[in-house]
Amino acid sequence: MARCVLLCVLVALTLCQSSPVFAWWFVENVTVFVTNKLEGGKKLIIHCKSKDDDLGIHVLPVDGMFQWHFFNNFFHTTLFWCDMQWERSPGGDWVRGSFNIYRSHRDIERCRDKCWWDVKEDALYSPDTNGDRKPIYFWPK
Ligand SMILES: *[C@@H]1O[C@H](CO)[C@@H](O)[C@H](O)[C@H]1NC(C)=O
Repeated sequence: MARCVLLCVLVALTLCQSSPVFAWWFVENVTVFVTNKLEGGKKLIIHCKSKDDDLGIHVLPVDGMFQWHFFNNFFHTTLFWCDMQWERSPGGDWVRGSFNIYRSHRDIERCRDKCWWDVKEDALYSPDTNGDRKPIYFWPK
């Protein structure tokens, strides 16, 4: 029993160290926004999932936005990923990529309660902690 308590304390301390303390009580309800910012009327096909949720396949027109919200779990292991594809030119190649769009440990401070993503030709862009949009995920060649 005593050993178990000690183990629990150690686990809790380890978890606290790997995550900034303020983040622990800061964010629970997070909304992710993914906007199609491709050029030339290209549609974006997006399919996002987590271990427990399948958000379905969505086709976004240019400037179309897909959004969902969820609750960060206590241990901050929340992970959502999206498979995305779009046609480079009509009848041309498909560009396909899969990206971890939200990971608590990576994004909880950067995004806080809103995580914005713009899907562009070269990359997926998202604001850094200063609010400047930066390319983060580059499409596979
Ligand atoms: C979480 O945030 C979303 C988007 O702002 C909102 O629609 C929803 O009601 C919130 N849920 C709770 C329980 O606060």
